[in-house]
Amino acid sequence: MKATQITTAVAALACALALPAHAAGDPVKGREKTSMCAGCHGIPGWKTAYPATYKVPKLGGQHEEYLVAALKQYKNGERSHPSMKAIAASLTEEDMQNLAAYYASSYSGPSK
Ligand code: HEC
Repeated sequence: MKATQITTAVAALACALALPAHAAGDPVKGREKTSMCAGCHGIPGWKTAYPATYKVPKLGGQHEEYLVAALKQYKNGERSHPSMKAIAASLTEEDMQNLAAYYASSYSGPSK
């Protein structure tokens, strides 16, 4: 009887943890930080500031997990672009998740 209850509790906890793991970031907080990114990546979403002269990847609509992974790679040196490295170094993991949540949702409108 007790074992069953524990199993149920563990299963419930696993579900509770699994759900928010996908969208851990807060897009509203992320949006507040995008002033740091807007000069190069453009805002909201797709337009880059200087598409003709400087290739800046678009972030709007990109997968959240991909954006967080990319930012971590700039911070830890796996990716070596100097400006992005400096930017990523100033971000906490929470900032990265929030920014990623914002950019992942921004293609459907800034209010989301
Ligand atoms: C000085 C210009 C500049 C600023 C400011 C800037 N970026 Fe970037 N970003 C770039 C460039 C250029 C690249 C492509 C670098 C490369 O080739 O690795 C890039 C790449 C990225 C990538 C990887 C995209 C991909 O498709 O692999 C992410 C994610 C990113 N930036 C997020 C951000 C965020 C979030 C901010 C604000 C906190 C920001 N950037 C601010 C210029 C900038």
